[in-house]
This record gives sequence, C-alpha cells and structure tokens, in this order.
Amino acid sequence: MPRMELPPAHPSPASVNVHTGAGRQSAAVTGGAFKTLEQFIIEQQDVTAGSTGQFSRLLRDISVAAKIVNRDVRKAGLVDIMGDSGDINVQGEIQKKLDVLAHEEFVRAMRRGGEVCLIGSEEHAEAIPMRMDDCSGKYIVLMDPLDGSSNVDVNVSIGTIFSIYKTPDDQTGPASLELALQPGRDQVAAGYVLYGSSCMLVYTTGNGVNGFTLDPSIGEFLLSHPNIRTPETGKMYSINEGNYNSWAEGLKRYIKWMQADDPATRRPYTTRYIGSFVADFHRNLIKGGIYIYPANRRDPEGKLRLMYEANPMAFIIEQAGGIASTGNGRILDVEPRALHQRCPVFIGSPRMVEMADAFLRGEYPADEFAGTQGA
Ligand code: AHG
Ligand code: MN
Ligand code: MN
Repeated sequence: MPRMELPPAHPSPASVNVHTGAGRQSAAVTGGAFKTLEQFIIEQQDVTAGSTGQFSRLLRDISVAAKIVNRDVRKAGLVDIMGDSGDINVQGEIQKKLDVLAHEEFVRAMRRGGEVCLIGSEEHAEAIPMRMDDCSGKYIVLMDPLDGSSNVDVNVSIGTIFSIYKTPDDQTGPASLELALQPGRDQVAAGYVLYGSSCMLVYTTGNGVNGFTLDPSIGEFLLSHPNIRTPETGKMYSINEGNYNSWAEGLKRYIKWMQADDPATRRPYTTRYIGSFVADFHRNLIKGGIYIYPANRRDPEGKLRLMYEANPMAFIIEQAGGIASTGNGRILDVEPRALHQRCPVFIGSPRMVEMADAFLRGEYPADEFAGTQGA
C-alpha cells in the first residue's frame, strides 16, 4: 500500500481561523464600524463589470425571506405552526409545517422580485417556472428551504441552503427542467442561512466566503465573518455512526483511524453530529473538521441531495479553502441527471477530506492496520 502523509500535529498558521475571535465579532455587531449585508452587496455590485443590479436584488430578496423564516422559527414554540403537515414530500419523508412555510416564503420573495426564471426546491416534485409564457428572469435558484427539519420540534439549529445559476443567454420560450440541471461548477452563487443561537447568512459569489449575523434589534444582517477560510485540518468529524455496519471498508477504517490514540496527529478526534447539515457544516467550516454522509445500504447514493445540499456547500467550502468530494471525485463536477438526485458527501478541511478519499481508495497507513481486517 502507498504510504499516506499524516496531518500536522498542530494547526499550521493558515489553519488558525481568525474569525472566531470575540473581539472582531463584537466590533462588527455592537454598533462600531459595521457593514450591513445590503451595503456589502452594493459594494460588490459596483466592482462587477456589466452588473445590472438584478443579482443584487435577488440576494436581497433571499435575505428578506431568510428574516421572515427566522421570525417563524423563533415563534415556532409559541404558535401552532409545529408538527407534521400531513403531506409526504417528493423524497417520501414527512414534511414538517415549517418546511412548507419556508418553501412558500422563499418562492414568494423570488416571484415578487422577478429576477428568477425557475426554482427547484426539495419540497416540490417539479421545477417551478416563475412565468408560464417565457423565461425572463436571469437566474435559476435551487434550494433546501428548511434543512434539519427533524430537529424543529426539539429546538435544535436548522437552516436554509440555496444555489444560484444563470439562465443561459440564448434561452427563449418557457423554462424547462433542463435549465436547472447544471453541474455545480457552473453556480454563480451559493449560500446558507443558519437559524441557530443567532441567525447567520453565509454566502459566496466565487470570490471568497462572507458571513453575516442578524442583529434582531435593527433587523439587519451585519458583516461579522469577512473572508472565511476553513482550517487546513481539524479535530472534528461528523457522521451518523448508526449506519456503521453498512459502510464501505475504507470508510470504516478511516473512522477507526480518527478514533485511534496518537498524540502526534492529535488523535483521537472528536465526534460532533447534530443531524442538521447546515449546522454541522457551519461549525466545521469555522473550527475545522469533516462532515460525511456516505452511501449505505438504505441510501445507496447517500442521503443528501446533489442540487440543494451537496453542490451549494461544495461551492462554499472550495471558496473557503476546503474540499468537497463524493469519495470518488469532485462534487462540483457531478453531472446532474435529476432534480432530486442524491450524492455521497465528504466535505470540510482539505487535509481531512484528502485523507478520507485516500482511505476510500484503499490507501491506509500500513503500520496502524497491520494484521487487522478492519473493524
Ligand atoms: P432535510 O431536513 O432537509 O431533509 O435534511 C436532513 C439531512 C441533513 O440535514 C442531515 O445532516 C441529515 O439529513 C441527517 O440524516 P440522518 O438522520 O440519516 O443522519
Ligand atoms: Mn436538508
Ligand atoms: Mn429540507
């Protein structure tokens, strides 16, 4: 077996995330020299050649919908919007009422704005054209309106994920599904909203990743995490270990490797798994780590959706210096076949994802696994 390179014993300077420092964050949020999301968007528009302002308006529409959903999430324990709506979504899973509300709020905001030609949503079987006669909006949006919905009833962080593509310039006539089936590498923007201990909006337009925290007292997202870079490596791994028995051998060995005692590589690592992809991803983005949703017996293609979950987060992590892999190649290069397609996900700090990929290829550190047959 080829020898693998182990991660450094201590984080390299590049892996020290400066954005978690309390001083920096509080300066942005306490009324010092802060910048609102709207100011930031306008500044970006001004430096983008040929910008017509449509994209800025779309981001603004999304941020307004995010505030509305945040309000609904905050009220969820108080008013009767909890529990199952009784409908089964296209994935065969029970929709919670907040899923439906979030879907409707985002669709409504984009329909009102007029910048979008077609929407694909995890909560809707078909792609939704904004107009039946033609395709005037310049953008296509794919979204998971409420991620982690099984956590709604137990007051645990949830999120929204969105992915934005351009409508092809030569598009004429009504929008068709094919417009939505673009590979992730063609995204023009992607982001997520985290409804956590605070509400955050994090997004990229392919020029770095920036995070904004909602100040509820003034109703504005403020730039709190400029130019986010994910640590080169980390100590946290996030995976549903209940599926252990149906994983590939290489993945079992990778997890056992992370659990082994080895001070030189700071092992054993730490498991963190919330069950809300947005929340697990956000923590690992800031602190360093890997999130894995692999193929297993029940979900032979994994569980997460390529167009709503894997692609947008892959774009964000690459822009933050990380890697997103299917275990067999770059997520952003997967050619989509269907709107609700699923895809295995290995995403996070670059050294950790490289290590996972190596284990999946059968490249184990030979000395540690000598004489074992795996777990
Ligand atoms: P959603 O609520 O949009 O259906 O997504 C749930 C996803 C993801 O957020 C989470 O990481 C994963 O499902 C959890 O799945 P398991 O319960 O199988 O671990
Ligand atoms: Mn989801
Ligand atoms: Mn969802």
